[in-house]
Amino acid sequence: MTDLVVRRLLVDMEQPVARHWCAGDAFRTALFNALSMSFPVGEQFFIDSVRNGFKALPAQKQEQFRAEVQGFIGQEATHRRLHSLYNAHLDRLGLVNDWEPRARERLKQMEGLDVRHWLGITAANEHFTAIFADFMLRNADLLGEQDPRLATLWLWHSAEESEHKSTAFDLYQALGGSHEWRVKWMRQVTFFFLTDTLRQTASNLRRDGTLWKWSTWKSAASYLFGRRGLVTLTYQPWRAYFRRDFHPSQQDSSASVAWLREHGDSFVPVGG
Ligand SMILES: [Fe+2]
Ligand SMILES: [Fe+2]
Repeated sequence: MTDLVVRRLLVDMEQPVARHWCAGDAFRTALFNALSMSFPVGEQFFIDSVRNGFKALPAQKQEQFRAEVQGFIGQEATHRRLHSLYNAHLDRLGLVNDWEPRARERLKQMEGLDVRHWLGITAANEHFTAIFADFMLRNADLLGEQDPRLATLWLWHSAEESEHKSTAFDLYQALGGSHEWRVKWMRQVTFFFLTDTLRQTASNLRRDGTLWKWSTWKSAASYLFGRRGLVTLTYQPWRAYFRRDFHPSQQDSSASVAWLREHGDSFVPVGG
C-alpha cells in the first residue's frame, strides 16, 4: 500500500492567468489549458469510482485499502479545487470548455454499471495521467518561467498523480476485474482522451486566434513528436498497459519522489 499525503499548495490562484502563460508558446498553453478543463469532471469521476470500489470490498480488505483510498480522494479533491480556480481564469480569457459537458453526457451512461467498469475506466485514465505526469516532471523546463505559480501547480499535480497511480488499478484487481475488460477500457479511454484533447486544444487555439499560425504547428510538431516529444516518449509506457502482467508500480516514479523532496517549500502536508 502507498502512503499518500494530501498537500495544500502554497500558490495564489487569485491572480489572473496570462494568455500565453506557458513560455509564451500558444500551442503548449492551449494544450495544458485543455487538460485542465477536463480535470474537475474527470477527477470527480475517479473519486466516485474509488469510493464506490472501496465500499464494494469485503470488510477485511477494506482495512488494507482504507488509508490509501482516503489519501487518493484527498489528493484528487485538492487537484479539482485548484484546477477549478485556474479554469475560471480561462473563462475570463474567452476560452470555452466544451470537454466538460461532453464528458458529463458520456458519464451518464455509466449509471447502474458494475463498479469494476468505473474502476477500469479510472485505472486507464490514471495510467494516462501517470505517464504524462512523469513526462512533465522530466521536462519541467518546457513549462517556461513566465508563471512559476502555474509551473508549480502542474508539477505538484504530476508528482501526486505519479504517487497514487496504483490505487484505482489495485482496487480493480482486488474486486476481480478481468484483464480483457481492463484492456478494452484502455482502448476506449485512449480514443476519447486523444480526440477530446485534440478538439479542446484546437478550440482554445481558435478562440485565441493562433490556430492557423505557422509557429503554433511548429511548436505542436516538436512538443508532440520531437526527440523529447510527448508522443515519442510516452508511447512505450502507454503500450505496457496492455501486457497481462502489467502493474503501475513497474513504471519509474523517481522524478515524482525527487520533485516532492526538493520542493517542500511549495506545499504544506495536511494529512492523508
Ligand atoms: Fe489529479
Ligand atoms: Fe489521479
